[in-house]
Amino acid sequence: MSNVKSLIRVLNGETITPPPCWLMRQAGRYLPEYREIRSTTENFLDFCFTPELAAEATRQPLRRFDFDAAIMFSDILVIPHGLGQKVTFKQGEGPILDALETSQDIAKLDLSLVRIRLAPVMQTVREIVAGLDNSTTLIGFAGSPFTVALYMIEGRGGTEGTKTRHWAAERPDEFMALMNVLCMATSTYLIEQVNCGAEVLQLFDSWAGLLPESQFRKWIIEPNRRIVESVHAVHPNVPIIGFPRNAGVLYRDFVEGTGVQGISIDSTVPLRWAAKELQPLCTVQGNLDNHLLCSGGITMEEEVRAILTVLGSGPFIFNLGHGVLPLTPVENIARVIEIVRGTA
Ligand code: CP3
Repeated sequence: MSNVKSLIRVLNGETITPPPCWLMRQAGRYLPEYREIRSTTENFLDFCFTPELAAEATRQPLRRFDFDAAIMFSDILVIPHGLGQKVTFKQGEGPILDALETSQDIAKLDLSLVRIRLAPVMQTVREIVAGLDNSTTLIGFAGSPFTVALYMIEGRGGTEGTKTRHWAAERPDEFMALMNVLCMATSTYLIEQVNCGAEVLQLFDSWAGLLPESQFRKWIIEPNRRIVESVHAVHPNVPIIGFPRNAGVLYRDFVEGTGVQGISIDSTVPLRWAAKELQPLCTVQGNLDNHLLCSGGITMEEEVRAILTVLGSGPFIFNLGHGVLPLTPVENIARVIEIVRGTA
């Protein structure tokens, strides 16, 4: 047995059977014990910035399930907060930001605040690391610039990113200024997470699939590439997983263009295409549909087996195509893990 953790081994190109497994949003509202500790704090960001609570939320799913990784409990919207933008989360409403409207609003963002404002997240990372066993990998993360910019400009979730897409197309120099600030803040933040003990990083570009090819190259591939380069300049061996959700055939260009070690694919990506086009380039992570996980039953089980059959013969991490939904029955997750581990 190698003493290198399984998640790191697959991200270095090894094939492991059964594959390592964790789930996006493995911590969160589907767990009663999460809802319990979450109810102690009204504003979600305050919860994220309380290291004892965030570390506990990180550990909760690991007590129930045999996951190979812990993902630091935080949110992608801590970066706008770190830059001085007003960000609140009201219970059940999702994020509300003081939306950026002009180039002056972009100019007001303050990179010098990031380190101090996000210091509690670093304390969370240290606390998690202190209690981690020697087979579980700690994943740090951040949102990618376009996805974070979208929330900063729209001011809330549940949009199609209309204002953001128009700003990027009509005033690209201003939009580039925002992307530059986000690239710098995000790189600093991720480097700091690794300094504090994160072993793998994931970049969430949840809204990448909104963009046509030319814009995808400019606002998705290029900023993610710059962040990978900046992080690797300081920490050359830390594996980075990219997640340009809904990128379709552009997943391949994303992998080639950014230099990531892993690619997290959404549930619409055909398995055979991913095995043929992506797996020769890097480790593939995914891609059980989160709604199938929520429904459970034979349809879910067959899908899990199909994913293992097609992607399990190369470097692979079992995961979802997007985060665990709040209504997901806990038993369905236990069942998926049994099948992945081959104990079912
Ligand atoms: O377990 C984990 O995966 C770690 C924690 C984590 C959260 N958010 C906790 C969270 C991670 C990795 C994220 C990433 C995130 N946050 C993304 C990228 C992934 C994706 O889902 O596309 C995005 C777009 C966000 C922004 C965000 N955070 C929104 C739009 C919302 C509201 C919608 C919702 O699901 O409630 C959040 C809130 C949020 N982030 C919750 C959790 C557990 C729920 C808030 C609560 O408990 O009150």
